[in-house]
Amino acid sequence: MSKTLTFKEKKLRGTITVPGDKSISHRAVMFGSLAKGKTTITNFLAGEDCLSTIEAFEAMGVKITRNNQTVVVESDGIKGLKEPMEPINLGNSGTTARLLMGILSALPYHFTLYGDPSLTKRPMDRITNPLREMGAKIDGRGNGKFLPIAVRGSNLKPIHYNTPMKSAQVKSGVLLAGLLTDGKTTVVEDTKTRDHTENMLKAFGADIAVEGNAVTVNGNQPLSACDIEVPGDISSAAFFLVAAAITQDSEVKIENVGLNPTRTGIIDVLELMDVDISIKEKRTIGGEPIGDIVVKSSKPKAATIEGDIIPRIIDEIPVIALLATQAEGTTIIKDAEELKFKETDRIESVVQTLKALGAEIEPTSDGMIIQGNARLKGAETNSYGDHRIGMMISVASLLIDEKVELNDEQCIAVSYPTFFEDLDKLLQ
Ligand code: S3P
Repeated sequence: MSKTLTFKEKKLRGTITVPGDKSISHRAVMFGSLAKGKTTITNFLAGEDCLSTIEAFEAMGVKITRNNQTVVVESDGIKGLKEPMEPINLGNSGTTARLLMGILSALPYHFTLYGDPSLTKRPMDRITNPLREMGAKIDGRGNGKFLPIAVRGSNLKPIHYNTPMKSAQVKSGVLLAGLLTDGKTTVVEDTKTRDHTENMLKAFGADIAVEGNAVTVNGNQPLSACDIEVPGDISSAAFFLVAAAITQDSEVKIENVGLNPTRTGIIDVLELMDVDISIKEKRTIGGEPIGDIVVKSSKPKAATIEGDIIPRIIDEIPVIALLATQAEGTTIIKDAEELKFKETDRIESVVQTLKALGAEIEPTSDGMIIQGNARLKGAETNSYGDHRIGMMISVASLLIDEKVELNDEQCIAVSYPTFFEDLDKLLQ
C-alpha cells in the first residue's frame, strides 16, 4: 500500500500521549507467562510486534485476553507451558525472536520459529551462540544463524558471558535462559544497554542483581505475577520531538513518556543539538521513571554523535539523521555498526531515503555524515518495510511542499499503529 504525504498544515501544536513502550510491552507478556498467577498489563502497545509475542505464548497454552491496551495474562507458571502444535510465527519482531529463544532453549519441548522476510534475514547467531554455550540444542538455516530455527529444549548449564554485542536482546535472551537454569548466570556488557529485563524481573520477584555492567540471575526461582503499567515509548515520541523542533511555530507536549536512563539518549542529543526541550512532572511508575516532554521550534546545530550514547539512541538514529539535515553544520554519527542489523540496514536505508528527499548525506562503515541546512524535496519513497523509516519519511514530508509518496507505509503499525492519527491531532 502507498500513502501520499502532502500535509497542508505544517506546524505542530498541542499535547498527546504516545502508545506504550515496545520493549516493556514484550517483556510484560513474556514474564507474565512465566509467572504463576494473573498479570494485568495496562497501556500495552498493541503493535504487531508485541502481538507476535502474545501469539507465541498463546501457542504454548497461556491464557491471554486483550481489551484494547489492557492485557491480562493468566498462567500456571513455567510448568504450565505446553508444547506448541504448530511452528511459531514471529512476524517482524527481533525482540520476540531473541528473548524467546532464551526461554524455549530451557523448556522440555520442541519448537519451530519463523518470521517475515525481514526477520528471516536478521542475524540470530548473536543469541544462538551463547545459548549453545549453555548447552542449548538449536538448529536452523545457516547452522542456526538465520530463521527458520528449531529449538529442542533441554537442561542448560549456567554461564558467565562477556557479551561482544551491544544488544539488550542478547543480554535478555541469555538472562532468560539463566532464569530457567539451576545456578547463577551472569552477563557482562562493555556498554550498558536498555535494562527493562533487569527492572521487570525484579518486579516479578526474580533473584537478580546488577553490579555496574554485570547482571546476575539466580536460576530456577519461581516468578510471581504482578501488574505492569507501561510508560509511553520514547522511541515513538522521538518522531514528534524532532517534528516539533524542525517545523516553524511548533510546540508539542508529550505526556507520560518513559525516561529510563538507558533510553533517554535522544533527549541528550536534542539538547546537544540546541533543540528547545524541557522535561516536566518527573515521576515513577512500576519501577520506570516517566515524565512529560515539551519541544518547541528550534534552530538546531550539528553535532558528532559517537561512543557509549549509541545504544541509548539506536532506534532513534533515523529521525536524528533527519534532524541533522536541518541543523547548522555537519553532523557525524559513528560507532553505530549495529544499525546494519535492524529491520533494514539502517545505514543504507536512511542514507538512500534522505538522499532521495534532497539531503546531502553519505554512509560510512559505522554510521553516516550529514550536511545541514538541506532544502528537502518531494520524491517517491519506500519504507522498505521498516516502521522507523516510514515514520522518518512522514516527518520529513512536513518540510516539503511537493508530493511525497510513501510506499509500504502499513509497516508503521509494527510499533505505532496510531501514528497518523496522532500526527493529525497535532497538525495546525
Ligand atoms: C530492544 C533492543 C534493541 C532495539 C529493539 C528493542 C529490546 O535491539 O533496537 O528495538 O527490546 O531489547 P538490540 O538488542 O538488537 O540492540
